[in-house]
Amino acid sequence: MSGEATVTMPNSDYNPAVHANLSNGVGFIEGEIVPISEAKIPILDWGFLHSDATYDVVHVWNNRFFRIEDHLDRFMNSMEKLNMAIDFDRGQIREILARCVKASGLKDAYVEMICTRGVPAANSRDPRRCKNRFYAFVVPFSWVATRQDQDRGVRLHISSVQRIAPQSVDPTIKNYHWLDLVRGQYDAYAEGADLAVLSDMHGNVVEGAGFNIFAVTGKTVVTPSKGVLKGITRKTAMELSEQIGLEVHERDVPAAELLSADEVFITSTAGGIMPIKFVNEQLIGNGLAENTVRLRELYWEAHQDPVLSQPV
Ligand SMILES: Cc1ncc(COP(=O)(O)O)c(C=O)c1O
Repeated sequence: MSGEATVTMPNSDYNPAVHANLSNGVGFIEGEIVPISEAKIPILDWGFLHSDATYDVVHVWNNRFFRIEDHLDRFMNSMEKLNMAIDFDRGQIREILARCVKASGLKDAYVEMICTRGVPAANSRDPRRCKNRFYAFVVPFSWVATRQDQDRGVRLHISSVQRIAPQSVDPTIKNYHWLDLVRGQYDAYAEGADLAVLSDMHGNVVEGAGFNIFAVTGKTVVTPSKGVLKGITRKTAMELSEQIGLEVHERDVPAAELLSADEVFITSTAGGIMPIKFVNEQLIGNGLAENTVRLRELYWEAHQDPVLSQPV
């Protein structure tokens, strides 16, 4: 991170009246805040051509960022592990995100920061010769499963698609290697389900398109320890589980364990803690997901906690 003072920061006096519909979202591209429909990236950026990028998503709920420092930690670590460096330091990134949210006027928002490898020098195939780029965007809050979906009962399918091996792509670096996750989603739709969870080569469930997974049996909560992104919502769910007297274990979770659990839930910045009612068409437990519902309440209450959330 260079973080030099020469970097141009976006104009905080951005005039929303100039651009209609900023509430659809805004992008931060080439140092400028623009309406989301005008947020475009160069076609030669390896972030696009090779998924050579890392990103993070933090949400804003009721005008407050939730666990932004955890998201910034993960983003900075991911960039470092990928040998990427940008002109903005952590404080500047935080400020850019806040300015984008303010420009959008959104009270509840999905806020994404991205670092791409960038465009290579002419005729070069050497990643070291790319200038890494920073982009960001803010759009209205979105849900892996809306509250309405959750009330109806979310259907999860255990996909036969294997998640890309952690030996190939380190899942703790948040990345755009989603072809397996999307293929899993199509499997799920074919089975009449809403969401797919993928497994590893040993038949342990790992994660789905944008979410981590948990199973609750009695007073024990389990979540996969490896082959997964260390979700910030996963972390919150583990902390809250302990708070309500549940015992949390990070370990391998065989697919069959989901089917025999009392409760199954998923976690994501895009929706928080979300109960799963059916796995492979089988009703989970008594269908009431009492612990999950309690954790979900506590999760949203935590959005008022000044330790975990800060005003934009
Ligand atoms: C593959 C994957 N796993 C898990 C998650 C959940 O992480 P978090 O709770 O930090 O949003 C995400 C979030 O997008 C993800 O992409």
